[in-house]
Amino acid sequence: MPTKPTDPAFLDVAQLEAGTIYRLLSGAVAPRPIAWVSTVDAEGNANLAPFSFFNVVSVDPPVLAFAPLLDDRAAPKDTVRNLEIIRECVVHVGSEDLIEALNATSATLPPDADEFTHAGLGKAPLGELKPPRIAEAPIAFGCRVRDVLNFGDRPRSGRLVLAEVVVIHADPAIWDGRHVSREALRPVGRLAGADYVRTTDIFSLERPV
Ligand SMILES: Cc1cc2nc3c(=O)[nH]c(=O)nc-3n(C[C@H](O)[C@H](O)[C@H](O)COP(=O)(O)O)c2cc1C
Repeated sequence: MPTKPTDPAFLDVAQLEAGTIYRLLSGAVAPRPIAWVSTVDAEGNANLAPFSFFNVVSVDPPVLAFAPLLDDRAAPKDTVRNLEIIRECVVHVGSEDLIEALNATSATLPPDADEFTHAGLGKAPLGELKPPRIAEAPIAFGCRVRDVLNFGDRPRSGRLVLAEVVVIHADPAIWDGRHVSREALRPVGRLAGADYVRTTDIFSLERPV
């Protein structure tokens, strides 16, 4: 059935405020996995922040994508500023065991403040990469930035970071060489606002041949 402007379900994006579009997108595109991203600035100060605009976009080569938005003053977040200088990051997966610490690292701190220290997390090296991985996190994807797409210069305009995975830390407690243990990893998804979801109510559906 054709949609008309008089249809209450019809929304013209050009007439909507960014805050409204944010609530619509983040409520409807849910649950979202959470990238927990470590970067460093030119002085070597570490930065850590969660981003639920996140997914896998290529397997060979392995590429992850996450999207820090410009802030309310249309300024890039520290993660993006760092990646413009040191084009490396470590991406962890948000999980229940570390969710309080993950949330703590979403605080707006001064650029040179270290969110690892702020959240009580340890650092460990990952290969030759400059950003540290979170010592407590069972899986960490060490990445080099392939590209950053720019969707505009207004508050909440996205920067899509395409990060190629070059080295992986996978604790044998969650990775047996063939499967990731969901019970051990306990990944969580983000819904809208302050809501999250666990992955404990599972059902299976075979794909058609
Ligand atoms: C679970 C969670 C998911 C988030 N996802 C995003 C996101 O996808 N994009 C974004 O711009 N901010 C997101 N935020 C907010 C950022 O984490 C927050 O702005 C943070 O301070 C950015 O850190 P930085 O300035 O060190 O890069 C999220 C926050 C939380 C708690």
